[in-house]
Amino acid sequence: MRRSSAPRVRAVIDTDPGIDDALALLYAWRSPDMDVRAVTTVAGNVPVDVATANVLRLAALARAGVPRVAAGAAKPLARALTTATHYHGEDGLGDVGGWPAIHAEPVGADAVDVLVAAAREHGPSLTLVALGPLTNVAMAVQRDAGAVRGVGRVVVMGGAVDVPGNVTPTAEFNVHVDPEAAAIVLDAGLPLDLVPLDATRQAVLDRARFETAAARSRAPGASQLVRCTARGFRVDHARGTHGMVLHDPLAVGAALDPTLIEWEPVKVTVSSAGETRRVRGRPNCRVARRVDADRFIMTFLERLLP
Ligand code: BDR
Ligand code: CA
Repeated sequence: MRRSSAPRVRAVIDTDPGIDDALALLYAWRSPDMDVRAVTTVAGNVPVDVATANVLRLAALARAGVPRVAAGAAKPLARALTTATHYHGEDGLGDVGGWPAIHAEPVGADAVDVLVAAAREHGPSLTLVALGPLTNVAMAVQRDAGAVRGVGRVVVMGGAVDVPGNVTPTAEFNVHVDPEAAAIVLDAGLPLDLVPLDATRQAVLDRARFETAAARSRAPGASQLVRCTARGFRVDHARGTHGMVLHDPLAVGAALDPTLIEWEPVKVTVSSAGETRRVRGRPNCRVARRVDADRFIMTFLERLLP
């Protein structure tokens, strides 16, 4: 049941599930103020066919109805794919088994067709949320830059602006996988809100709090989410984080409620090594800086695990 009369955020989510993508999708589907019109998949954490199956698997788990899912790019624009299965598991969702059977199929259209069609149809009332490498979004820009420029917001999880990277000392995974795509997106004159590691590392989910919320929740799939995320908590813990960093869920949070974050207009460039650097000049995006992490995590848990 919706609690507010604020207009719903009409969104298309481009994603590569991925443990944190999984949490982001369920958070989006369970948010009464977000209307997820389509989910498009991209190669990133896992190959694109695995990412597509994972979206359908998560929809079955969440009993989210059959979302419109379209498969996209199988590899980055100009280089070979590097996955992140060391973090997310071979299956992208923690290698725990126990998922419900998939009965649905992706739509016939390609992800780029779906992104462009949504941009043309909904224009300023559409928010595009990108949670993986930017290959599909860049291809949508190449196909119809005017339409993509005309959407209300493009919220991208990616980059490490003033902080160290998570793949190399300076590069963040989503940008590192496809820097050519990231450069196209940053140069396209989009209404772009970048949610880099600078912000996401402030959004850390405490494991005990998550497990307590899951144990109390009546939401379908709560215990499966605990199993699936165990690997993310473990790897982040081994990297010295107390809890799991909510990269992709924070991008959904930013799409839902930009006031969760303080934004700074910045001109960001991308190097071929996937580094996102601030440079002098006219801003090409707003970069997420300080996060109201308490408010974000409270809302995230309330919605993910009601
Ligand atoms: C990003 O990389 C991926 O592994 C996560 O899903 C997230 O989108 C964080 O750097
Ligand atoms: Ca992701």
